[in-house]
Amino acid sequence: MWFERMTLEIWFDTHQYQVDHDIGESAVKFAHFGDLGIDLDRLALRYGHHGGRPDLRELIAERDEGVSAGDVVVTTGASEANFVIVSALVKPGDHVLIEHPTYPSLYEVPRSLGCDVTLFTLAYSDGFRPDLDRLESLIRPDTRLISFTHPNNPTGSMITTADLERLIEIAERHDCYLMFDETYREMSYPDPLPTAAAMSDKAITISTMSKTFGLPGIRVGWLASGDRSIMDAAIAIREQITIANNAVGEEIATQVLGRRDEFLVKTRDLVQGNMAVAAAWVESQDYLEWVAPDAGVVAFPRFVDGFPVDPEKVYRTLVEDYRTFVVPGRCFEMDNRHFRLGFGSTRDDLETGMARFGEAVASLIG
Ligand SMILES: Cc1ncc(COP(=O)(O)O)c(C=O)c1O
Repeated sequence: MWFERMTLEIWFDTHQYQVDHDIGESAVKFAHFGDLGIDLDRLALRYGHHGGRPDLRELIAERDEGVSAGDVVVTTGASEANFVIVSALVKPGDHVLIEHPTYPSLYEVPRSLGCDVTLFTLAYSDGFRPDLDRLESLIRPDTRLISFTHPNNPTGSMITTADLERLIEIAERHDCYLMFDETYREMSYPDPLPTAAAMSDKAITISTMSKTFGLPGIRVGWLASGDRSIMDAAIAIREQITIANNAVGEEIATQVLGRRDEFLVKTRDLVQGNMAVAAAWVESQDYLEWVAPDAGVVAFPRFVDGFPVDPEKVYRTLVEDYRTFVVPGRCFEMDNRHFRLGFGSTRDDLETGMARFGEAVASLIG
C-alpha cells in the first residue's frame, strides 16, 4: 500500500488560498460558523459512537429515503467513506471499474491498495453520459466493485432512475458491488435520483455535508448500506484511523440537517441562478465549448480545437496574475483543454471570476 499526493489536491493546496475569485470549487460557497446560528455550549467533547451519533444517523436516514439509521455510518467526509468501503471490499489484484472523470480519490484509493483499476471514461460526444452496454462489456469475472458519481464531478452530467436501476441489476448479476457517490444528489432539480443503498444490498451510497451545505470544514460525510458485514468492516477500519468522529463537526451537521429545508432552498436559488449566468458566459465565449451541466454545481468546458495558447498557460496566468481559480483538466486525468468551472460561489464572485478569465485569455492571444 503506497499513497501519492493527488494532482488535484496539489493544485488546490498551492493556489486556492491566494485567489480572490474561486470559480473552480465543487461546493456552494463555504459557510461561516457565525452565520449558522449554532449553539455549542452544552456539547460534550467526548469520544462519540463509532458509527456516528444516533440522532445524526436518524437525520441522514430521513434524507436518504428507504435507508434506516442502522444502515448509516458517519465518516470524516465522503473521502473517508470511499476509503473504508474500498478497503473493506477489495483485495490487491481485484479488478475495479471506476466511472471517470470523477473526484480522483475514487480511483487513487483502489490503485494505492493494489487493485487492477479500469477507468470507464465518459465521452464528450455522449454528453458525458455513461453507455451502460460499454460498461458491462468491461466487467470481468474478478470485477469486485463498480464506482459511479452522479450528478457527476466535474462534468455535471446525470443519469436517469432507469439507468441507476440497470446499474444495480448489472452489479447484482455479476456479483459485484456498486458504490454510488451521491455527494451532489440534492443539487438535482426538480427530482434527485433515489438513494442507491435503498435499492439493493449490493449498492452502497456515499455522501457528505461538504457540497450542498457548504460545510467542507466540518469534515462530516457518511456511507449507507443494507449489508451489515460492510458496516462492521467499515467501523473496524475507522477504529484504526479516526476511532470516532469530531464531536464539533457532528454537532454542526446535526443542527444543520435538523433545519435542512432552510439550507436547501438557499442552495437551490443560488445554484439555479448561477448555472444560468455561467451558461450565458460560456456560450458567449467563441474560444470555448461545453456540454451544459444537467445538475450539481460544476461543469467541464473546454477550449475549442485550434485555440492558439497552451491551456496550462491560461490556468497559471489566471491564478497568478488575475487571482482567479479554475481546475485544469489534467487534475482529473483528462485532456487539459478542459477545465472545471464551479458555479457555487457568490454571484459577484462568479461574474468577476469569469470576466477575469476572459481578460486573461485576451492578454495571451494578443
Ligand atoms: C464526487 C466527490 N466525492 C467525494 C468528495 C470528497 O468530499 P468530502 O471528503 O469533503 O466529503 C468530493 C470532493 O470534491 C467529490 O467531489
